[in-house]
Amino acid sequence: MMHFPQNFLWGTATSSYQVEGNNTNSDWWHWEKRSGKENSASACRHYELYAQDFDLARALNQNAHRLSIEWSRIEPNEGEFSQAELKHYVDVISALRERNLEPIVTLHHFSNPQWFAEKGGWERSRNVQFFLRFTKFVVEALADKVHFWMTINEPLVYAYHAYVLGVWPPQKKSFLKAGWVENNFSVAHIKAYKLIHGIYGQKNLPAPAVSIAKNVQAFVPCRDLFRDKFAAYLRDSWYNFEFVDRLFRHHTLDFIGLNYYSRQLVEIKKWGLQNLIMDVCQQNHHPLKKNSLGWDIYPEGLYDLLIEFKKYNLPLMISENGICTPDDGLRWEYIRGHLQSAHQAIEQGVGVLGYFYWSLIDNFEWDKGFGPRFGIVGVDYTNHQRQIRESARKYAEVCKTGVLE
Ligand code: FCB
Repeated sequence: MMHFPQNFLWGTATSSYQVEGNNTNSDWWHWEKRSGKENSASACRHYELYAQDFDLARALNQNAHRLSIEWSRIEPNEGEFSQAELKHYVDVISALRERNLEPIVTLHHFSNPQWFAEKGGWERSRNVQFFLRFTKFVVEALADKVHFWMTINEPLVYAYHAYVLGVWPPQKKSFLKAGWVENNFSVAHIKAYKLIHGIYGQKNLPAPAVSIAKNVQAFVPCRDLFRDKFAAYLRDSWYNFEFVDRLFRHHTLDFIGLNYYSRQLVEIKKWGLQNLIMDVCQQNHHPLKKNSLGWDIYPEGLYDLLIEFKKYNLPLMISENGICTPDDGLRWEYIRGHLQSAHQAIEQGVGVLGYFYWSLIDNFEWDKGFGPRFGIVGVDYTNHQRQIRESARKYAEVCKTGVLE
């Protein structure tokens, strides 16, 4: 029997672009059209069906929900702020509160307004001001309803996919630009952190809790060779910690959101900077069960990372953890394994605020389209009906009792 702390946040996570549908002013929408990729179209129609989806979350005993606000709805054209869309999100957050679901609100989850992308997006340091203006507009309206804010979701994942691999808009391949993007994200967070705290201060509200959602991976050396071990060490220090260190040094983290999915098996073909940074095992040495995108299922990695992150002496939040699979039994095995790891870390004195399964409902998985099924609730895309999966019911038992058997 594993008992989790009292007041633990039990929830699921989504992001606006992946579930809402018809975000026609987003750079992703424009890119889908240009690239001929699967169109997000009406996605899960969550924009219309959010109340019903939150009813499900509540019925499944969850007490928290992580979601994001779509900047391209709030500010469809530069400097033109939509009161109607702002009201929509006020209603959404109120709907969570009415159901006793603690909202965790992300301000940037991969998608940008098209006009912002046309101005050079996150490559340009002078564009950070636009994100701050949007942040101010939203936070002023929601401050009395929201305690937990996440400024940026997975800054390095975004920079890597959009500016190194070039598989996400704007499809560039430049380490240099990826570096600028990363830097601008850190500046945006540091300034947004101060801005958000300032707004709560002016309104005499209790201080909010502000963080980012940091994607972390377990880097496991493939062979007992110095170069594999060295590369794994480098990647762990750089990928998992460097960005967080920066924000930490500026005292701009009230807690740390960690998104954990999988491990990376590190096998370096030869010495070389690019090899040290990029080479991964191609042979599937040390095979493990995988999700439908081929990512290894490795719950031990979550334990190791939680222990490593203890050094900051800040509360941690597992802001995403999930699996896409047609095998719902495997989904539960995945959730169970990762909760077990979280519990083990808690027993070692790590402060964990909560766990957010990715995702409440199946959704649009970026460049991979609608194929991967991450939801504990399924979505039939022909009629948008929701189907509660067995894993959701099992997770609901844990959410209800705070005990994992
Ligand atoms: C994370 C993203 C999220 C979702 C999951 C599967 O990296 O934050 O939007 O796509 O992966």
